[in-house]
Amino acid sequence: MSSVEVIVYADAEELVQATARRLVDRIVAAQSASGSASIVLTGGGTGGGVLKAVNDLPDRDAVDWSAVHIWWGDERFVAAASEDRNDVQARAALLDHVGVDPARVHQLPARDGTFGDDPDAAARWYESELAAAADGGLVPHFDVLMLGLGEEGHTASIFPDSPAAHDQGIVCAVRDCPKPPPTRVSMTFRALVDTSTEVWMMTTGAGKAQAVAKGVQGADRISTPAAGPRGTDKTLWLVDTAAAQDLSPAE
Ligand code: 6PG
Repeated sequence: MSSVEVIVYADAEELVQATARRLVDRIVAAQSASGSASIVLTGGGTGGGVLKAVNDLPDRDAVDWSAVHIWWGDERFVAAASEDRNDVQARAALLDHVGVDPARVHQLPARDGTFGDDPDAAARWYESELAAAADGGLVPHFDVLMLGLGEEGHTASIFPDSPAAHDQGIVCAVRDCPKPPPTRVSMTFRALVDTSTEVWMMTTGAGKAQAVAKGVQGADRISTPAAGPRGTDKTLWLVDTAAAQDLSPAE
C-alpha cells in the first residue's frame, strides 16, 4: 500500500544534505537488489542543491554511477548549451564529476538539436526513449522520481489548469508557460503516477507553503499539479519548516 509521508527539516541546507544522503542510499539499495538503478531528476534550486550535495558526499562513489539510468521530468526547450537547461545544471552539479555512462543519461532534446523548433517532436522522441527502456510498458521503472514545485502548485512543467494537466500522452510539449522560458517539454501525469517506487516532492520556503498543504492533502491535480505524482511504495514530501507551515499537525 502506497503511503504519503512528510519529513520536515529545519532549513534548506539540512533538507538538501539529508536528501543527498537519502538518494545515495536508495541508489545503492536498488543496485544491490537488481544491479541497476533508474532515477528522474528535476530542475530548480532544491533539486540542484541536492545534486551538488551528492557530489560533495565523501561516499558518493558507493554508487556505481556507470550503471544508473538518469531521466528528467521536464526540460526547458532552449539551446543545448543554455544554462537554463536542467541537464546543463545537473551536469555542472554532479554528472560531470562522476562516471555516468552517456548512453544512460537520457536528456530531453534541445531547441537547436535534431527536432529544431518543434517541442511536439521532441516530446514524441522522449516517449520513444522511455518506451525503449521499458520492460514491455510505456515507461521504465524508476527507483526515485524527484520533483520540485512552484508557489502556484506546478510540478515538472505541468502548470495549474494548463493543457499539460489534461494531456493523455506520456510526454508533452508545453507552450505559453506562465513562468519563463515559455516553451518546455514535460512528463505528464501518466509518467509521474505509479511509475516509481518513490516520488520525492522537495521544496523550501514560506512561498511554497500553500502548494505543499494542497499537495499533501491530495487536492485536485488539475488545479494543483503537485498533488498528482505518486510513488508505488511511497510519496515523500521533503520540506523545510517554512514550507510546512500550512500543514496541520497530523500531516
Ligand atoms: C522551472 C523551475 C521550477 C522549479 C520549481 C522548484 O521549471 O521554471 O525549475 O519548476 O523546479 O519552482 O524550484 P525551487 O526548487 O527553486 O523551489
